Amino acid sequence: MYVLLQLFFIVIAFISLEHEAITTHAQPYTSVVAPITKHTDAAKPLYSVQVLSTDANNQLSNENLLIDIDAPFIWHKCIVHFDTYFTHCPPNEICSYPVSCEEYQCTDVRTLYSYKKNPSCKPETNSSTLPYWGYCTCPVNVVNPVTGSCSLADLNYDAFTLITSDGRNAGVDYFNSHYGVYPNAACVPSSSLVSFPANVSGVMAFSTSHYALPIYLLSPLKNTLALCFPSNSTARGVLFFGTGPYYLLPQSNVDVRSYLSYTPLLKYQNSFGYFISVNSIVIKKRSINVPANTTTKLSTIDPYTTLRTDIYNGVIKRFSMVTKRLRTVKPVAPFGLCFSASTTGLKVPDIDFILPDGKKWTISTTNSIKQVTNEVACLAFVDGGATSEHAIVIGTFQFEDNFLEFDLQNSTLGFSSSLLLKKTSCANFNFTSKL
Ligand SMILES: *[C@@H]1O[C@H](CO)[C@@H](O)[C@H](O)[C@H]1NC(C)=O
Ligand SMILES: *[C@@H]1O[C@H](CO)[C@@H](O)[C@H](O)[C@H]1NC(C)=O
Ligand SMILES: *[C@@H]1O[C@H](CO)[C@@H](O)[C@H](O)[C@H]1NC(C)=O
Ligand SMILES: *[C@@H]1O[C@H](CO)[C@@H](O)[C@H](O)[C@H]1NC(C)=O
Ligand SMILES: *[C@@H]1O[C@H](CO)[C@@H](O)[C@H](O)[C@H]1NC(C)=O
Ligand SMILES: *[C@@H]1O[C@H](CO)[C@@H](O)[C@H](O)[C@H]1NC(C)=O
Repeated sequence: MYVLLQLFFIVIAFISLEHEAITTHAQPYTSVVAPITKHTDAAKPLYSVQVLSTDANNQLSNENLLIDIDAPFIWHKCIVHFDTYFTHCPPNEICSYPVSCEEYQCTDVRTLYSYKKNPSCKPETNSSTLPYWGYCTCPVNVVNPVTGSCSLADLNYDAFTLITSDGRNAGVDYFNSHYGVYPNAACVPSSSLVSFPANVSGVMAFSTSHYALPIYLLSPLKNTLALCFPSNSTARGVLFFGTGPYYLLPQSNVDVRSYLSYTPLLKYQNSFGYFISVNSIVIKKRSINVPANTTTKLSTIDPYTTLRTDIYNGVIKRFSMVTKRLRTVKPVAPFGLCFSASTTGLKVPDIDFILPDGKKWTISTTNSIKQVTNEVACLAFVDGGATSEHAIVIGTFQFEDNFLEFDLQNSTLGFSSSLLLKKTSCANFNFTSKL
């Protein structure tokens, strides 16, 4: 097995060197960049990032993977294949080398980096072996973020490629996620992707887990993840790794970092996700108390901000008060407060999340009101129940056209509030390559 593994590494290393060679001749880059797409064809809106994977013919092909800042590891549609040159890899499939059940990573992922909280997952076993390989593969549980159901995936040695950027344009070069370190991801069959949006073939983990993508990037790229979600499925948002600068048109000389306020990113128990502290919620000068020692989680899978019932009731009460002039209509699930929306749209007071040190994350109308039908618009916050684990879970509708910078080295979150107030949006990165 070791000889085969070595051969495989040489093949991959050769590909890496080729890319490296191109890189050294082109202009310097400060980040790697990837487009973000909003998908509205599943049960809830979801957002994917486009990465390049190497297919059976060593060609780079685009793959859309769901952005999950909480997932313990990456998984996508591929096949584990022990044949070094993947000569038997079926056409249009991504093949990769398996991790065996005897390797360290197998036990590590199963015990420390699994989707272990999910009660529908059964303990993994070593039953499956690959024809002619003679070793057992390493099946690991994955949880479908749309259906919540658990299925088995095979742990592999993977390869992901991203495009370099100077912060203004996409580059012409490719950056391999690994240089000597091959990300361990997992391969799933199509059946694990039921209820996924069309064109999305897996989950990209951006969490603090040791098997999420940031760990595999080189410094300083790995220190900073920036996300900017688009507000509709025709616009392209943008993801960066790298400390910046970042530019969005039409302000071609304003670094987006100048719009950001910063707040500490917190850890919560043994979760791989990202948390912040919210002290109170203020609507038109009145404060709704958020009890001390509660947690606020950031989620790229939950579509709307979820508030524990005590906080939710306070927000609804105050928001109803300050929007008395608007005509309310029967609420449309999952929302609790809806308005008759005129053709010109509503304008409502801001909802401010007050963070430590007086920092303020302002949620203005585009991020607080969701147009549900032509006639109905709702306050885009949902009741998480009286005993929800987290007092607040900030969801994706509140991220759209907001710039978020996760500084993973210093554990701080930079946030812009709505970019529309700065006359730009997440759809304004110039993806045209500068030649
Ligand atoms: C799988 O096999 C490896 C190597 O023989 C062993 O260390 C590990 O405990 C086994 N795991 C399970 C779940 O059977
Ligand atoms: C899937 O991708 C193809 C090619 O990129 C595109 O033409 C099609 O519109 C996409 N479908 C959806 C539902 O996004
Ligand atoms: C999608 O969003 C972009 C950027 O905000 C905007 O220019 C465009 O008009 C939107 N398209 C639709 C169909 O709403
Ligand atoms: C909050 O947590 C701190 C530290 O864990 C503890 O000292 C304090 O008593 C807690 N406060 C409340 C209101 O639970
Ligand atoms: C982390 O903080 C240090 C010291 O303030 C700073 O030099 C460094 O650039 C920061 N890291 C990132 C990724 O911003
Ligand atoms: C996008 O970048 C390309 C390449 O630098 C440039 O030619 C083009 O003018 C830019 N687009 C806009 C709208 O500025």
